[in-house]
Amino acid sequence: MTSAVSTPSATESPARGLVCRACGAEYPLIAQHACYECFGPLEVAYDQAALARVTREQIEAGPHNIWRYAGLLPAGQDPATRVTLDPGLTPLVSAPALAAAVGLRAPLFVKDDSANPTHSFKDRVVSVALTAARGLGFTRFACASTGNLANSVAAHAARAGAPSIVFIPYDLEQGKVVTTAVYGGDLVAIEGSYDDVNRLCGELVETDEFEDTAFVNVNVRPFYAEGSKTLGYEVAEQLGWRIPAQVVIPMASGELLTKVDKAFQELVEIGLATAPAGGWSVFGAQSAGCNPIAVALQKGTDEIVPVKPTGIAKSLNIGDPAAGVYAIESVRRTGGWMDYADDDEIREGIRLLAETTGVFAETAGGTTVAVLKKLVAAGKLDPEKETVVFNTGEGLKTLDAVSALVGPTHRIKPSLRGAREAGLLG
Ligand SMILES: Cc1ncc(COP(=O)(O)O)c(C=O)c1O
Ligand SMILES: [Zn+2]
Repeated sequence: MTSAVSTPSATESPARGLVCRACGAEYPLIAQHACYECFGPLEVAYDQAALARVTREQIEAGPHNIWRYAGLLPAGQDPATRVTLDPGLTPLVSAPALAAAVGLRAPLFVKDDSANPTHSFKDRVVSVALTAARGLGFTRFACASTGNLANSVAAHAARAGAPSIVFIPYDLEQGKVVTTAVYGGDLVAIEGSYDDVNRLCGELVETDEFEDTAFVNVNVRPFYAEGSKTLGYEVAEQLGWRIPAQVVIPMASGELLTKVDKAFQELVEIGLATAPAGGWSVFGAQSAGCNPIAVALQKGTDEIVPVKPTGIAKSLNIGDPAAGVYAIESVRRTGGWMDYADDDEIREGIRLLAETTGVFAETAGGTTVAVLKKLVAAGKLDPEKETVVFNTGEGLKTLDAVSALVGPTHRIKPSLRGAREAGLLG
């Protein structure tokens, strides 16, 4: 930073560098995701005093999207620098009927992030990552994706007029493939699992040909991960600057869960939000077909054994989760828990959420609702405490999950007689 004055202008980033989550080694704000000392993952570290200067009034006067929290993010303070679809400020839906259905007696809310521009929470992480990436000089945008990230990177690149190259497993849902391809750009379907896709991207990023390319979840991953904090900020702001007592969050890499927890910690530390009397508890949801983080937590170990994912919750199918140990740390520290749901439970979760709230979730949301129900039934989640469950994606992208279960309840001839015969007139 070059400013000589003591108060930073609105266009300065509060980030002071990258820090290794494992050994604490520090690095400047560059495109690097692993520590040279110990290979641990890097994350953004902030100037605490700069964060503490952010006020509720500033935020509330800001734009109706994630950039109202620019003072708490590593990039994008100057609107002219943003590569963005302006995601965020999605609805926090009061869900009393869902609460009753799962046995919760305290207020329950659904944070509905399917309302983002490309219909998942990934727009948040991509906006922050690509804004940082452009600032670092990258001209092409890329990712390894289980589907939603692909949608978002392709759409952001289209809006910015930049080339994109997006890598996905070949067997994703049509609703994820079409909603990426439509934006143009290169879309590379790889004959392998997400973990194979991710490994290849890790190799490509080291080549000369990809020198100009920012992979949002590889070389600029520390910036990408910070975008997830905005989900935590928004929930607190929407509750009147209070942190809820319990949150239930889907996990693939585990990154989203750790960053919602980090957001709550920051808000309390800088005095922007109040914590519940007994603190908050973070709960994680996976599918039975890909549950390495939940299994490790339940076994009481830190050792995450990678799996070969199966099952319908494809957006959560990361068999070797990069932030898994940090998700376990968050959940243990806050007194939460993790569980997983099988495909039938996930389908049932999608229906239950839809029928009780009017929110149609993709399989990740179905997973989270199914796990919410299990956690209450098992006595892990306190039915007397205010709870927020995160729906991170849109049901229209995974129609196949429920298309065999639902359809017209009646089929009639276009006449009163037809209606009467079907019992519609009593
Ligand atoms: C809809 C949806 N929810 C949740 C997640 C989990 O995100 P994370 O990898 O940060 O755990 C993903 C990841 O792709 C996703 O697509
Ligand atoms: Zn390190």
